[in-house]
Amino acid sequence: MDRKVVIFDHPLIQHKLSILRDLRTPTKDFRDLVNEIAMLIMFEATRELPLEDIKVETPCGTADCKQIAGRKLAFVPILRAGLGLVDGCLKLVPNARVGHIGLYRDEETLQPVEYYCKLPKDIEERDVFVVDPMLATGGSAIDAINQIKLRNPRSIKFLCLIAAPEGLEKLEEAHPDVDIFCAGLDDHLNENGYIVPGLGDAGDRIFGTK
Ligand code: PRP
Ligand code: URA
Repeated sequence: MDRKVVIFDHPLIQHKLSILRDLRTPTKDFRDLVNEIAMLIMFEATRELPLEDIKVETPCGTADCKQIAGRKLAFVPILRAGLGLVDGCLKLVPNARVGHIGLYRDEETLQPVEYYCKLPKDIEERDVFVVDPMLATGGSAIDAINQIKLRNPRSIKFLCLIAAPEGLEKLEEAHPDVDIFCAGLDDHLNENGYIVPGLGDAGDRIFGTK
């Protein structure tokens, strides 16, 4: 099956993304919106989960229904900003496990620096959704997925709020088997590796650290 790259054009996502970008949006609203958009992205990213037939007794008869056929999911936020998407994802799939990968970009080299990795023990049986608000140079996403692949999960998808064309291209090239879902695709990276127009520093805006 061909790999998917989805850039959303849904009006709700576009509307929420506009508020998120606004530099006047306060921390609490920013955090809420990140979770709401994460939920909307996850709704689409789980579209291909397999179903099985079940019968359900209603007050008026028997209905032929469907249920998700026992797939196990894991959400893996890239620390720290990826944490902002986890609650939204868990609202849709409350039984998913959550792993964590700690990476930050060195401000000079823009290369990812790893400081933490804790993934579910049974990750080999799980479909993994790596979540991070920003795909800028692509270094952090590529590195996180490299680490997860060492543990042989069933599949990996990557979800983000805003991607730069440079990072998207690099991620597509490095991991051609990973489906990618971005709420928005922006114009370019500036000389400091920030997405333009983007939304600024996602971690600082989620946690109010600047
Ligand atoms: C941000 C963002 C990504 C990374 C993207 O994290 O959340 O993880 O930058 O940049 P890249 O595609 O060029 O690697 P940051 O390094 O600012 O760390 P933080 O989440 O701890 O704030
Ligand atoms: N990380 C962010 O938080 N924002 C960017 O624009 C790029 C990397």
